[in-house]
Amino acid sequence: MIAGFSRFSKPEKLAWLVKHFFTDNPMEVAREFASFWHTNVEAQRLFDGMSENTITNFYMPYGIAPNFLINGKIYCVPMVIEESSVVAAASSGSKFWYTRNGFHYDIVGTTKVGQVHFIWNGTDPVKLYSFFNAVKADMLQNVKYLTENMEQRGGGITNLYLKYLPEIEAGYYQLQLEVTTCDAMGANFINSLLEDFARLLVEKADTYDDFTPEERDIQVIMAILSNYTPQCLVRCRVQCPIQDLGKVEGMPAEIFADKFVRAVHIARNDVYRATTHNKGIYNGIDAVVIATGNDFRAIEACGHAYAARDGQYRSLSKAWVENDVFYFELEVPLAVGTVGGLTKIHPLANRSLQLLEQPSATELMGIIAAVGLAQNFAAVRSLVTTGIQKGHMKMHLHNILAHFAASPPEVEKALVHFEEQTVSFASVRNFLEQLRNTNSQQPILG
Ligand code: MEV
Repeated sequence: MIAGFSRFSKPEKLAWLVKHFFTDNPMEVAREFASFWHTNVEAQRLFDGMSENTITNFYMPYGIAPNFLINGKIYCVPMVIEESSVVAAASSGSKFWYTRNGFHYDIVGTTKVGQVHFIWNGTDPVKLYSFFNAVKADMLQNVKYLTENMEQRGGGITNLYLKYLPEIEAGYYQLQLEVTTCDAMGANFINSLLEDFARLLVEKADTYDDFTPEERDIQVIMAILSNYTPQCLVRCRVQCPIQDLGKVEGMPAEIFADKFVRAVHIARNDVYRATTHNKGIYNGIDAVVIATGNDFRAIEACGHAYAARDGQYRSLSKAWVENDVFYFELEVPLAVGTVGGLTKIHPLANRSLQLLEQPSATELMGIIAAVGLAQNFAAVRSLVTTGIQKGHMKMHLHNILAHFAASPPEVEKALVHFEEQTVSFASVRNFLEQLRNTNSQQPILG
């Protein structure tokens, strides 16, 4: 057990770490960690300030998927992701739909939610509802100092109501808050409101004339926003006449559409497939969410809860054919922001938003949903035609070559060779071994 670690300076933390965990080569490891420090001291200070106990930076590739035609506007979308084939798949999905009218989204809603969880041990719930109705206006008035600014921007509280849930706990109630937060993700705004409401509930119950002394006791368990935001929802769609799909990887359009629709139908009804299918959607969604400085854990948690909203975990996308037109649609909750939080603090999140031409939060919802749908389209297209490994392993080739420390000329030769050959870890190793053996047997000229 080490006490006071957080008070060590960064070099002290690093020294402690390598001394205890990298005993074979502490200096070498320390140098490696330090080699990822930013050369700009100010920039490094910024990153260190974002978290606790930082010793270095963990790099992730920042890529671009161009040619996204979304609601008639063309975007170049930033994506931060480590999986080698994701940006390529998003780009190929965007390119495919670029010439087929692009992506179209509708914002279904922008409501965000918070809850005060509390226990009231009175025997008649109606009495608590009367109390709440009597104090509600006053409670709303009391948080004006928080809501005024948001109201000026067009957001604020849209609903505040009481829920009685004795099936969860005896005497258990929730104060349910609904808000819109304009372009902000709004977590701090919501949590500040909730903590005030929690305090006000207790205070007001304590002096409420119609309560007996026992009924005046409200026990607040917690006050926190909910990351489940099914009403902060975007629907994004692509569609085209079947014949406009053309031959897909050599497959006639009708057969492709039929297999595609079946594949998505399977994902809507089988949890094993649904999970992988949705993972493919989040390959795209998370990458843009991270690139724009939003909270990918919140986005994922909410999306998976939404995918299971009728009791069965299902795919978030749907595909169907109607009157010889192919439709593919994604409906996904996305509580994101384009102001506040990390969006301005992280220099590259800031650049991402500039690249997207400073979208509003709703526009960003549409962009992210389009990338999720493009990603999903590209994955399912591969699955029902060539299989996923062909494209995947081609992209993975670079990782395998890096693993074997291939030199630039070796990489060049490998890329040519594996144009026609199947990529696998073993096949790349054999290729490099042969290449290196041949080279070592070449006479040295000079
Ligand atoms: C891989 O990261 C994602 C896929 O498995 C998604 C899918 O199967 O739909 C290719």
